[in-house]
Amino acid sequence: MHTRRTTLSKFLIEQLKNSPDGQALAALLVDVSAAIKAISAAAGKGALEGNVGSLETVNVQEEVQKPLDVLTNQIMLHHCDWGGLVAGMASEEMEKPYDIPNEYARGCHLLIFDPLDGSSNIDFNVAVGTIFSVLKHNKDTPPTEADYLQPGNRQVAAGYAIYGPATLLVLTVGQGTHGFTLDREVGNFVLTHPNLRIPEETDQFAINASNERFWEPPIQRYVEECRAGKTGPRERDFNMRWIASMVADVHRILLRGGVFTYPRDSKSSKSGRLRLLYEASPMAMLVEQAGGAASTGRGRLLDEPPQALHQRVPVVLGSKSEVERIERYHREFDAGTDKPFVSPLFNERSLFRKEAR
Ligand code: F6P
Repeated sequence: MHTRRTTLSKFLIEQLKNSPDGQALAALLVDVSAAIKAISAAAGKGALEGNVGSLETVNVQEEVQKPLDVLTNQIMLHHCDWGGLVAGMASEEMEKPYDIPNEYARGCHLLIFDPLDGSSNIDFNVAVGTIFSVLKHNKDTPPTEADYLQPGNRQVAAGYAIYGPATLLVLTVGQGTHGFTLDREVGNFVLTHPNLRIPEETDQFAINASNERFWEPPIQRYVEECRAGKTGPRERDFNMRWIASMVADVHRILLRGGVFTYPRDSKSSKSGRLRLLYEASPMAMLVEQAGGAASTGRGRLLDEPPQALHQRVPVVLGSKSEVERIERYHREFDAGTDKPFVSPLFNERSLFRKEAR
């Protein structure tokens, strides 16, 4: 029995003891963690509780909802609306923000979340997650939609839970990024990954490569160079993974280093796929707090001003030097000074030269 383990509550009380509204924020994050335990239990039941398959409803993004999308949204709302800790909440699954019922007091924080990120993976028993962001609301009046449109640099806390073989909560309150593992028997989140630092030397990248023809040239150049490995300008081999669950892909990059990107593309919307307020911003804060960088490709993600609750944004995040390299490729492309790399697979001496076939 480990009697000296650091539980989430102990950690939060310590980290936030001198911050203004720190105790309210700690209490809110404990409520969020209770919701995450309930979601972990629900996701773990799989088909036993009828939690697989799709509903006939679509959310505001026109994505077909899963039973667990709806259930996990309710879990988050009902664990966090009652305690006088939030002024309002917004979620991927709701077109408009959620107003706190009249019988409950309102607090000084806004909670924004994606209750079940990567839910298309649920039917295949692949890791999914919850992502959340906390902002301040220092007004006496109930929040309007405009109050939620704050850039990521105003977040006071951000985190995600990953429901894999173990359930982990990765969290920042602006003093580093820290990981907690759920001890299921005891019911506590225990600090297992203090002060995560994203490795700088890396050979990993994560991207949905099936969209390649829709990417902009700077991303095509970066990926082409990685794929060329030892034979290309990077002079070393890279490794690519795409789980298609942002939490799982980012978690891997956070621990192993490298770049996760869902870039701007010409496929559906030019802004890429991921949502600014409840996917990109919280992940950007976590990655920066772990010593990494997060960008749109053309600027710091945390400085991106939101225009709408469900706005999408291009995302490039991970090891600092790789993110800076991708930003440089965008600058060179915009200035017309880029030098796209032509893979040796298709050059004069290639095995795949037309004449050689
Ligand atoms: O935004 C939801 C999400 O499932 C992310 O978790 C993930 O990174 C992405 O979409 C997967 O997109 P695609 O289906 O294009 O691989």
